[in-house]
Amino acid sequence: MLIAQISDVHLKPEDVLAYGVADTATALARAVKHINTLNPRPDLVLATGDLVDEGASESYVLLRRLLSPLKPPLFIVPGNHDHKASLRNAFHEHHYLYDTIEEEGERFICFTVETYAVRLIGLDTVTPGEHGGGLGRGRLVWLDRNLTERPDAPTVVFMHHPPFASGIGHMDKELFTGQREFARIIKKHPQVERILCGHVHRSVFRRFAGTIASICPGIGMQLDLDLRVEAPSAFIMEPPAIMLHLWTDLWNEPTLLTHISVIEEHPGQYGVPHPFFGVISPK
Ligand SMILES: [Fe+2]
Ligand SMILES: [Fe+2]
Repeated sequence: MLIAQISDVHLKPEDVLAYGVADTATALARAVKHINTLNPRPDLVLATGDLVDEGASESYVLLRRLLSPLKPPLFIVPGNHDHKASLRNAFHEHHYLYDTIEEEGERFICFTVETYAVRLIGLDTVTPGEHGGGLGRGRLVWLDRNLTERPDAPTVVFMHHPPFASGIGHMDKELFTGQREFARIIKKHPQVERILCGHVHRSVFRRFAGTIASICPGIGMQLDLDLRVEAPSAFIMEPPAIMLHLWTDLWNEPTLLTHISVIEEHPGQYGVPHPFFGVISPK
């Protein structure tokens, strides 16, 4: 089973550069083409939030159009830049977007996908009106109950906000609400293979509560790799990338392997494997 992960498109209208620099519509179209031409093709795509830059309904119409050529099925969790009602309107056939948990009058999109070799749990970590996020009591109780139901199913939890500091100063000022309780729950359930996140627009990995937590690069732009505590908020136009998570039993060891696949149209030899020895036969 091969899972592709994309994150943080921050889609703007086709004729608008995000923050005066980033052509996000072209970047998304390239990402879709990149996923469709992978061999083997991923079984599904997870999108870990911030799909648009401003949650206007027109942005989601464009988002749907640009994602429509995507061949694998898509599962979305919202980010702090998303507007949930507009997201649902544009992707109305994505029934899981209507699976919600209520906390203090707010509804949060939380769902499980049980139809693959790896069980998927999507969590909505968006705190309304805030840039940072977290998980409240209702979602945490729901998560614990769901993980208790299938202790033998290898599981991926995916969500927008990482439950840990990234080392990028301006992003770390906002703590993850409910972090300790979330870590306590994850630790209780060793079937959790990975916690897949977005929000930080860089590839980051760390040990978290007995599993591996990771952050996916952005499609729209990358955050500047500035590890000073006082790092100002800035982005950089490094090549965007997706993550590929492969559930495999190579060497008879069932495990989830993660690769990073860079999307960039280099002139000339883009995407052509060069043999170290001999000749490569076409795929
Ligand atoms: Fe983002
Ligand atoms: Fe975000």
